[in-house]
Amino acid sequence: MYNGKKLALPPLLTGLERLEYRGYDSAGLVLLEDGLPAFYKAPGQLQNLREKVKNSYVCSSFGMAHTRWATHGGATEANAHPHVSQSQDLIIVHNGIVENYLVIKKKLENSGFTFYSETDTEVLVNFIELIKIDKKLDLTSAVQVALSEIVGACAMMVYSQSEKLLVAVNRGGQLFAGVNGSECFVASDKNAFAGYSKNFFEIGNNQFLLVRSGKEPKLLNFNLEVLKPEIEELDVDINQLTKGDYPNFMLKEIHEQPEIMRQGMTGRINFKTQEICFGGLDECWEQIKQASSLVIVACGTSFHAGLLAKYWLEKLVNIPVKVEYASEFQAATIKAGDIVLGISQSGTTADTIVALEAAKDQGAITLGVCNVVNSKMARLVNAGIYTRAGVENGVASTKAFTAQALALLLFALKLANDKKTISNFNLRIINQLESLPNLMEQALGSEKVIRTLARKLKQTTNCLFLGRGYSFPVALEGALKLKEISYVHAEGLPAGESKHGPLALIDEAMPVIVIATQGEFYYKTMNNISEIKHHGGRVIALVNKNDNEITGLTKEIIVVPLVDDILSPLINVIPLQLFAYYSAFSRGKDVDHPRNLAKSVTTE
Ligand code: M6R
Repeated sequence: MYNGKKLALPPLLTGLERLEYRGYDSAGLVLLEDGLPAFYKAPGQLQNLREKVKNSYVCSSFGMAHTRWATHGGATEANAHPHVSQSQDLIIVHNGIVENYLVIKKKLENSGFTFYSETDTEVLVNFIELIKIDKKLDLTSAVQVALSEIVGACAMMVYSQSEKLLVAVNRGGQLFAGVNGSECFVASDKNAFAGYSKNFFEIGNNQFLLVRSGKEPKLLNFNLEVLKPEIEELDVDINQLTKGDYPNFMLKEIHEQPEIMRQGMTGRINFKTQEICFGGLDECWEQIKQASSLVIVACGTSFHAGLLAKYWLEKLVNIPVKVEYASEFQAATIKAGDIVLGISQSGTTADTIVALEAAKDQGAITLGVCNVVNSKMARLVNAGIYTRAGVENGVASTKAFTAQALALLLFALKLANDKKTISNFNLRIINQLESLPNLMEQALGSEKVIRTLARKLKQTTNCLFLGRGYSFPVALEGALKLKEISYVHAEGLPAGESKHGPLALIDEAMPVIVIATQGEFYYKTMNNISEIKHHGGRVIALVNKNDNEITGLTKEIIVVPLVDDILSPLINVIPLQLFAYYSAFSRGKDVDHPRNLAKSVTTE
């Protein structure tokens, strides 16, 4: 939303571009000039909307815009936001789900309302209108009543043409307001208005922001009492929001990883004393040290980072770790004092937030490993670690994964050191960590080989990824990356499991990418490769330089620098990210906007 004295369209389009990670099935906007609305909507990516507005002559300094990830109703123009109420008085944009929308819709239909889209949002705006009319309320009070009757988290902005008032409200979602003199911006992510406004404040849970043209915005609590906003400075590097010299965000972010490792270690590892410190965990460190087990909750790529943490913690600290898909987490198993660690790039993934809230309700000590500073997760947990990956724009998570992995490895090393479960080991690993960024740069050096390989496999429709020990989560991550951006069916499997069923899938048309670098399971993995080869399979092996055993079994190899087994995931994932990237690229897919996905999934 923009309200000010300048043209509303440029900041609205910039904001939409920066919010595309939340969904890009369709986009729409409304511009108000002399109180009259002009609507523009287009299915598909933002570019389609840009085409539509490029010849707009509307000279407006007040507007709202939205980019959608379809939940209720397909990605059509009719379902794109903004939606209007029956009388045309109310205009809404909305994030979240009205879970009881069907019941409300029935009620509205019985009262004579007609619907033009399949969305819960159109139901919501008409529900507010019905309350406004029936109870003779103004917009703010009608929204307040509606909120107490709808089920589900939401963040919305509703504009009333008759009252010339915009009400922005947040219940369980996220909304931020930017204030720059007479200009006001509202968005679900503060980066949407970075560069336009230096200051911002959060519209907290159950808070309202009232915006009128030419007036200062007013922040209210749920009882409609005026609050003083806590203004903060918007500290974001605009370069993080652009692709720079890269064709897309994913490739840029893959290449940022060595630098992200440097940032992730700065101030946390003292390479002279081999000490690790995390200020954010101090408060709970004693309880963490006493814990005899740990539960991790996360989704997608963050879940894979959680699995890596399980291997590290079990190996280094000797405590059992359970890693749960956040959406499958059973809070009933949690007792007061248990440690539950959530991992999330965005810090807003609804499944992970709900799992952490449930754990907290059981009395657990909650920890977070999170990238977005001050996000929902960061504020919910008792203590945590920021992963310092910078803004990640690509829907396919890359640098956020390695940043999470690094933070979790340091966490395990510190715990092991403090609990004295390892000896003399820190020294070797910490010395290698110092050269990790350089080793990652070397791993990125295999880009050309991988591009050629991906081109050769352009017709492939299925692919297996195998790894054992620390390499198993990496295999899962490699498969997820390939699936999500190139739409190739891929599975990640523990290498040792291949002989227990998946071997039946093996033929020439099923390439198997095996992580076979030096380490504890090198020879066992070599046997698995041998089995696949003997059954007529095609193996592409990730090996270290000068490997002359596995290279005797397969000629299709990707060479990665040699590191200690324990650090290998941070290196080995890079060629798999590049493989997914070039597989998608050679198939002509839009890597930054994979179909049907959104970067940040704020619905359960
Ligand atoms: O923001 P989060 O880390 O909580 O997101 C979790 C998943 O939605 C996310 O990792 C997703 O799997 C990525 N698209 C994977 O590349």
